[in-house]
Amino acid sequence: MSVTRRQILAGLAGVSVLGLGAGGARYWLGRPEEAKTHDYELIAAPLDVELVPGRKTSVWAYGGQAPGLELRARQGDWLRVRFVNRLPEPSTIHWHGIRLPLEMDGVPYLSQLPVLPGESFDYRFRVPDAGSFWYHPHTASGEQLGRGLVGPLIVEEREPTGFRHERTLSLKSWHVDGQGVFGEFSVLREAARGGTPGRLSTVNGQASPTLELPAGQVVRLRILNLDNTLTYRLNLPGAEARVYALDGNPVAPRPLGREYLLGPGMRIELGLRVPALGTALPLRNGPLRLATLKSVDSGEAAADWPAALPANPVPEPDLAAATSLGFNFEWVGALSGNMEQGGAFKFWQINGQAWDINDKRCAERPIATLQQGRSYIFELRNVSQYLHPIHLHGMAFKVLDSNRRKIDPYFTDTYLLGRNETARIALVADNPGVWMFHCHVIDHMETGLMAAIEVA
Ligand code: C2O
Ligand code: CU
Ligand code: CU
Repeated sequence: MSVTRRQILAGLAGVSVLGLGAGGARYWLGRPEEAKTHDYELIAAPLDVELVPGRKTSVWAYGGQAPGLELRARQGDWLRVRFVNRLPEPSTIHWHGIRLPLEMDGVPYLSQLPVLPGESFDYRFRVPDAGSFWYHPHTASGEQLGRGLVGPLIVEEREPTGFRHERTLSLKSWHVDGQGVFGEFSVLREAARGGTPGRLSTVNGQASPTLELPAGQVVRLRILNLDNTLTYRLNLPGAEARVYALDGNPVAPRPLGREYLLGPGMRIELGLRVPALGTALPLRNGPLRLATLKSVDSGEAAADWPAALPANPVPEPDLAAATSLGFNFEWVGALSGNMEQGGAFKFWQINGQAWDINDKRCAERPIATLQQGRSYIFELRNVSQYLHPIHLHGMAFKVLDSNRRKIDPYFTDTYLLGRNETARIALVADNPGVWMFHCHVIDHMETGLMAAIEVA
């Protein structure tokens, strides 16, 4: 069912350049000299899969699988993806966590026009940071991500790391019933609270799979939360696991501890020392088993803990010279416009402004304008009882501190803001454009919890 990389590359060779703009034709015909290019043709299309044993679910797939095909590139190289839309509705692809130019960011009407059914769009950008990223549409997100349009994007380090084995684990729960039939992706009363949860939890599209890992080796587990709603309380009881990276940026390796809260859109990379042959470890969400990690013979000598991963070239904010800005994330119950005429419910707002997903021009009213090259500190205040994974496009930020927990400052693209938590993050506004700043609980972002931040 899945399409191999070779098939995809073969497919690409046969693609004609007709219909591309002049700029497009240029880069499809010529390979840049300075870096290697990773080419993909990524088709989004409906597909029947078996999520519930013996039942068919009509998902929307990228590259013949849901979650989508794992894309891979190497740090510093170009990634080129020809996105072909064979869905019944318009779509785009956003590259979550990748620092890239605005035209490649996949936000409709801001980066590009939506790609219509039957059309294609060529994404081409350099990947400056190594780590675990992901991709998804930025159009009709509740349904499109809900139906399976989410996929991992792995950027490998330029030099080999100490890890010889790795696995990608894409977490997603599905809004399906016991027959595998989709229900509502968003329910109003849930959108006004924690978001509408799916009912069937999967890892790489399988309910409670068993994953085989080489005994005695330290395996790099890339765990990605590609879910619309759920914050996973990840734990690996009985395992020896260390955290190596958070959301695409390395951290000084440290024990995983009792559990880690992985909000929607967030990623964690663990080093897991695989126990002796025949041992089975549960990977859990709170008390619920997500997958079983089973050790199998590797025929290799036992490995030691790899060194820390090399830092990404993210600019260091100048805290002494930084300008501070406050952002309040709050609950508000309101109905905008007339529902029959496509008005949207607004349950959430940032600094008194709720985003209207039906208004194509919201981005023309940025909530803040940053001066290019300057450093900023954002004070993020959650004045609600729900978790909000706060995500910024275009730039990585450094988490400085929180009034609710001890923070070892680290770079990320998504920060899980807890109930009534205030956290400070800092960044260098080095990427010109208008960037989305939103909660990654899809229900929240679609009912107001989104804003645009301009860098000029
Ligand atoms: Cu993954 Cu605008 O988000
Ligand atoms: Cu993003
Ligand atoms: Cu939220």
